[in-house]
Amino acid sequence: MKIITILGARPQFIKAGSMSREINRQKDLGVDVTEVIIHTGQHYDTNMSDVFFEEMQIPKPNYFLGIGGKTHGAMTGQMIEKIEPILVKEKPDCVLVYGDTNSTLAGAIASSKLNLKIAHVEAGLRSFNLKMPEEVNRILTDRVSNILFCPTDSAVENLKNESFSNWCDNIENVGDIMLDSALYYKEKALIPKGLEIKKNFILATIHRAENTDSPETLKNIVSQFNKLAEQIEIVLPLHPRTKKKIEINKLKLYDNINVIAPVSYLNMLYLLNNCKLVVTDSGGLQKEAYFFKKPCITVRSETEWTELVECGANKLISLFNKNLIDAYFEMINFNNFSNSFYGNGDTASRIFIKLNNLLNK
Ligand code: UD1
Repeated sequence: MKIITILGARPQFIKAGSMSREINRQKDLGVDVTEVIIHTGQHYDTNMSDVFFEEMQIPKPNYFLGIGGKTHGAMTGQMIEKIEPILVKEKPDCVLVYGDTNSTLAGAIASSKLNLKIAHVEAGLRSFNLKMPEEVNRILTDRVSNILFCPTDSAVENLKNESFSNWCDNIENVGDIMLDSALYYKEKALIPKGLEIKKNFILATIHRAENTDSPETLKNIVSQFNKLAEQIEIVLPLHPRTKKKIEINKLKLYDNINVIAPVSYLNMLYLLNNCKLVVTDSGGLQKEAYFFKKPCITVRSETEWTELVECGANKLISLFNKNLIDAYFEMINFNNFSNSFYGNGDTASRIFIKLNNLLNK
């Protein structure tokens, strides 16, 4: 069985890392399986890419396409063009794509045009906001995939509501592969080098286009962060997109905000384990906050992880209607993290068994 994994952006390294570990474990057990990795280059900085491969011991990509820092259309188009000949040459039994980035969509389109079997990990998520590039990417990827590995019951439900079961026989809730990674690596968590933090701190990240690309929205976010920092220290690993936009708009983050470069996965696990609360617009971090039993404030008007909002662990806020400090006081004492929405941390092995059964039929 030959599997091609297509990835390119930071959250995909975290997901694919657990899958590669499972593939190698199966290989050691004598299963005939080969994984070929294509890295599109969407994320290319050392701290956005290389460090994840090193820490998580993800096999070095067999192909690196070097397509990053472009507009969405150019990025996606160039990826499709460069992925196609690799697929033709490698003739995989299946292509694995993860999540909702431009790399996911490019991998899915290139594969579907060659009639290759596509398995989408993290299928069925919806924000119901088509203005988000990720929502378009995930709907189109789901539509051309043959095997839809959903992380939650609500993701399966979304696909059923969109009639996916009329044309796809393989829709399954296998749990969330990010839980595999969190459980496996949490013992190895590392404090970011040189970081000095006081006892109580908030972990914050902001990078979504809808929060960074309008100067007015970004200015409001920075000002609310500055106000919250008067109450409690904030540690803010700053995404390159946000950093650029803050500089362009000449905004200033106050000193009680500990602005650091994007952190590695093991560093992020340390911050998650030690913070009091998370403020973010990332999809993955909302769940990771829950894995680490931390309340989360999500700076977005909708989320794909609706179960977290329903159980009260996550609060969605738009900073134009709601003050971050008020949300902080509402959320800081939340402590009911008893539901296991995301499976048992054995998602990679469930995916492998399913693929092995289907592809060897
Ligand atoms: C992408 C994904 C998003 C995911 C996020 C995680 C899409 C549509 N979006 O958003 O779903 O949550 O990754 O980080 O695929 N940049 C660097 N160095 C890097 C990477 C990016 O400087 O290593 C710059 C780019 O040149 C660009 C900006 O950051 O100017 C945004 O990068 P891009 O990959 O377009 O999207 P993300 O915002 O990272």
